[in-house]
Amino acid sequence: MTSPLIIGNWKLNGTRQKIQESLSILTKEKIIQYKKHIDVAIAPPIVYLSLVNDYLLKNCTYFSNQTKHKYIELCAQNVDINLSGAFTGDISAAMLKDLGVKYVLIGHSERRKYHKENTTYIAKKITTVKKIKLIPILCIGENQQDYDSGSTQLTCAYQIDSVINLTGIQAFKNTIIAYEPIWAIGNGINVCPKHVQSIHEFIRQRIALHDTHIAKQILIQYGGSVNLNNAIQLLEQKDVNGLLIGAASLNMNTFIQIIQTIEQYLQNKLY
Ligand code: 13P
Repeated sequence: MTSPLIIGNWKLNGTRQKIQESLSILTKEKIIQYKKHIDVAIAPPIVYLSLVNDYLLKNCTYFSNQTKHKYIELCAQNVDINLSGAFTGDISAAMLKDLGVKYVLIGHSERRKYHKENTTYIAKKITTVKKIKLIPILCIGENQQDYDSGSTQLTCAYQIDSVINLTGIQAFKNTIIAYEPIWAIGNGINVCPKHVQSIHEFIRQRIALHDTHIAKQILIQYGGSVNLNNAIQLLEQKDVNGLLIGAASLNMNTFIQIIQTIEQYLQNKLY
């Protein structure tokens, strides 16, 4: 069984001081003990990646095969399509790697909406990130209108197919998909876990149309108002392989409680 991947997306929140306080709670609460069966990452604002990475390297590491690993990995919220050059204000995948990043969010609905990121641009980002051997997390999901008109599958299929058409199915090898219905982001709406499962299953089948092996191994996260009360019900679904948590990850105590609860649930399930 693959370990579920739980990521806290801090979006545009935090200050040096607040982040330092959050990180110290991480070590005080000995998060390491709570994550034997899950993978955890945090996605702070890009300007704070270095701060978080330094802290994790100092306080949250272990050795395996003589290599230092972090118990909590870093995820970037965005990346540019270029690796270097005259692109003022942009941040490259190579720079993210240099800062200790493992995962990169691509095509988050907030970037599609506020920065008009289109499918071609998103597909290019996936190619660039894979070139640098970081793990892309392609965020997809429908808006309220699409949901109301029953077009959820159509929207998700379009978002997946446009990447495949531009870069081939190999783009999804060792790539993660995060299904985030836009109408359930940041508003506390509890999406029915059965609905989530049906869309995750659809996403897997869509990938399987091109490559059954990739479809089997691809990790599909759910995001949208995940909290302590709904995390387990969501993870109980067969095709839900992780959670992308926004608001509830901003409070480190809550985030730790979610991780603890999931770890406990998995331990009970396994033994
Ligand atoms: P919320 O958990 O605040 O709904 O945010 C979800 C999200 O957008 C994570 O990327």
